[in-house]
Amino acid sequence: MPGEERFRRLRGRDLLSIADLSPGEIRQVVDAALRLKNGGSAPILAGKTLALLFEKPSLRTRVSFDVAMRQLGGYALYLSPAEVGLGEREPVKDVARVLSRQVDAVAARTFKQETVEELARWADVPVINALSDGEHPCQALADLLTIYEKKGRWQGLTLCFVGDGNNVARSLMLGSAMVGMTFRIASPPGYGVPQALVDKARHLAAASGGAIVCTDSPQEAARGADVLYTDVWASMGQEGEREKRRRDFAGYQVGPELVALAAPDAIVMHDLPAHRGEEIADEVIEGPQSVVFDQAENKLHVLKAVLAFILAGEGV
Ligand code: NVA
Repeated sequence: MPGEERFRRLRGRDLLSIADLSPGEIRQVVDAALRLKNGGSAPILAGKTLALLFEKPSLRTRVSFDVAMRQLGGYALYLSPAEVGLGEREPVKDVARVLSRQVDAVAARTFKQETVEELARWADVPVINALSDGEHPCQALADLLTIYEKKGRWQGLTLCFVGDGNNVARSLMLGSAMVGMTFRIASPPGYGVPQALVDKARHLAAASGGAIVCTDSPQEAARGADVLYTDVWASMGQEGEREKRRRDFAGYQVGPELVALAAPDAIVMHDLPAHRGEEIADEVIEGPQSVVFDQAENKLHVLKAVLAFILAGEGV
């Protein structure tokens, strides 16, 4: 990272897209996560409360936020969709202003990116995107931590994403671009990352020495890659399209033949939950190159770092 990069304070900031962080800040968060993972946790968030406002199911992200707050001495309050009725029982802007009077930050998992953005517009406290249809920045941070742990660097590595140009792919594309990785994505026609986002990622990659490659050929994308990544073909909220997507994504499974095309020491990643036999073969997700449970664990460490920076400020 450029030594002269000036860090804006992360304290009090929203995290709606991974591109809300600078490359240096991503590095700071990952370094802090590694310190927290390998050392102890001081109760730096004592007296702080995080609201978990979730419109969709969650295992890893919800548990990670909850355990992260507890390990740092704070408290997390889960609010189910039925309790809040975000935008239905109560307008988003009212929920944002009520929570701002009662908690110190909000982590929101919403169907629409616009909803998490609207929350952030009206809230006086920081809002963290805990997954929307647009992005999953917390996942990308956990993944960058995992890649850094396994490979010791980002610069010059190639990450190949096979599948839907969804929330996870988009945050990974932007994150990879910022840290100097080459990001290749293979998606069936019509399922790629929107062009505006590809352009944004290319712009970020130009500054970091990274690159963005979009193709419809999984083989072309996988050849020589250091990281093979996939995610479900139908994301939460797209359940009605599952059958059509199963047909459209035929040939886009990360199976042993694709793994064989990647670098011999490639790691295989998936944000989970996985559909074995669809986007990933059982023998691959259970195989020796799979690091999916490291990714799941690392979400806890990285979210501790994110919360520490956003709620307690720098110097943690
Ligand atoms: N793309 C998936 C990620 C789940 C963590 C979804 O949005 O359902």
